[in-house]
Amino acid sequence: MDMAFDILKVVRPNIAKLKPYSSAKDEYSGEANVLLDANENALGSPLTKWYNRYPDPYQKEIKEKLAFIKQVPASQIFLGNGSDEIIALLFTAFCEPGKDNIIICPPTYPMYEVNANINNIEIKSAPLLPDFQLNIAHIEQLVDANTKIIWICSPNNPTGNSLDRIDIETVLNHFDGLVVVDEAYINFSKQKSFCQSLIDYPNLVVLQTLSKAWGLAGLRLGMAFASEAIVGYLNKVKAPYNINLPAQELTLKALEEVGQVNDMIQELVQLRIALAGVFEEMPLVEAVYPSDTNFLLVKIPNATKLYQFLLTKGIVVRDRSSLPNCADTLRITVGTEQENTALVDAMIEWMDQQLA
Ligand SMILES: Cc1ncc(COP(=O)(O)O)c(C=O)c1O
Repeated sequence: MDMAFDILKVVRPNIAKLKPYSSAKDEYSGEANVLLDANENALGSPLTKWYNRYPDPYQKEIKEKLAFIKQVPASQIFLGNGSDEIIALLFTAFCEPGKDNIIICPPTYPMYEVNANINNIEIKSAPLLPDFQLNIAHIEQLVDANTKIIWICSPNNPTGNSLDRIDIETVLNHFDGLVVVDEAYINFSKQKSFCQSLIDYPNLVVLQTLSKAWGLAGLRLGMAFASEAIVGYLNKVKAPYNINLPAQELTLKALEEVGQVNDMIQELVQLRIALAGVFEEMPLVEAVYPSDTNFLLVKIPNATKLYQFLLTKGIVVRDRSSLPNCADTLRITVGTEQENTALVDAMIEWMDQQLA
């Protein structure tokens, strides 16, 4: 691995050359009274008058607010229809189908792999070590001239732990492609975000989302923080109006409520700690893995049978038993106090049956 990062060696040549679609809003974004440039319906809509207009393609107002909250310049922010859209766009912009490869560190969020398969991109795997930390030597071994993106999820889904910051910095320092640090769960963690390290790493992309700590999974608002060059290529390949107008309006409202979100984070962390405590006391539970997220990975014999039993009680968790180093594990999202009690009661009932 050498260290000279050159974005022109990472971006797909056709995307570097691409002349992107120029929307009516790209060509005129000032204040005007008579808007006859975008084939919108001038009469309004059956819903509300103002949804007849296309939204701001670059979501400037949101980015200004986010710039203040995240302390990252607005020009280094990209917004997607969930971070899932941004994951897809990173492949579109940077990974040449049939030629390039990516590195993932399983068990991890499956969408990196799914998007690689959609795009016919080779997937190289450096599984996490048994303590769910990065295997740096293995990653280093896998890198070749066509490796474009190393995907790192911290805190990691489904294991729940934060990855060692020094390890992530090692990858950033020694890899001359993109390193995506997916921080979907960062607000539940005591670890510092990598957003403040963008200045040190031109190859860093930080992903965050409003779907978890902000409680807005239904809104579909994901964020990427990266160099202006990387943001520029993402802007080139995105659909012109990828964040719809109601989503933009609600996001602006939500961003006013940082205090309420912080209170919810505190509450969820307390609920997680309490739930982990209850699991640890359960006779059949073999491990409750440390979590920096709003979920717990729990190891329990016959996890798949427990999963099915819970379904009969109308309780859905995630069976992660088929993933590397995750045999007999369930990933359980922290719910409300009531939901957690329902889960615990059902688990106790199942365990009583096992022990009888
Ligand atoms: C690690 C990770 N990244 C990204 C996402 C997707 O987030 P979004 O709702 O912003 O698309 C998830 C959702 O579960 C996730 O766990």
